[in-house]
Amino acid sequence: MALLEIKKYPDKILKQKTKELTNIDGSTQKLIDDMLETMHSVRGLGLAANQVGISQRLCVIDLSIKEDNKIPLIILINPVIVETEGTVDAEEGCLSLPGYMSSIKRAEKVYVKGLNREGKPVEFEGAGLLARALQHEIDHLEGMLMFDRMSPIRREFFKRKYLRDIKKLKTDK
Ligand code: CO
Repeated sequence: MALLEIKKYPDKILKQKTKELTNIDGSTQKLIDDMLETMHSVRGLGLAANQVGISQRLCVIDLSIKEDNKIPLIILINPVIVETEGTVDAEEGCLSLPGYMSSIKRAEKVYVKGLNREGKPVEFEGAGLLARALQHEIDHLEGMLMFDRMSPIRREFFKRKYLRDIKKLKTDK
């Protein structure tokens, strides 16, 4: 296994829609293992393949550090949200926008379909933190970041502040 570099905004790959996987092979299995290791090394709750520079429709979610292990580790290939229910506002962060938390409005419940790591079809319902994580990761696969869910004014403010802060970080070094 290997630790992968996590791409940070404004890396262009994060804004591109990922490609569906048509062939799940050994390189997919290695990528999944590397993504899990990378996510766990930074105590992240989820990671999408394009966040490590691979534009494929694949993501991993592990909420065991937040919730008491009731939700198993999730590996999803070609996931799609089939249905949503309700809306809820909550704080979230993103490994590609380090140091930022923001309140984002999302569906309260989602119904998701996809493939597991063996390529078998899976479908399930997610609520609470799981619903939020699924929407956040599937947004990544669509080329969307947290701020794309904000109002235009908040989005511009957030992006300007973020870009100013990372520029400052670079010049401080
Ligand atoms: Co993210």
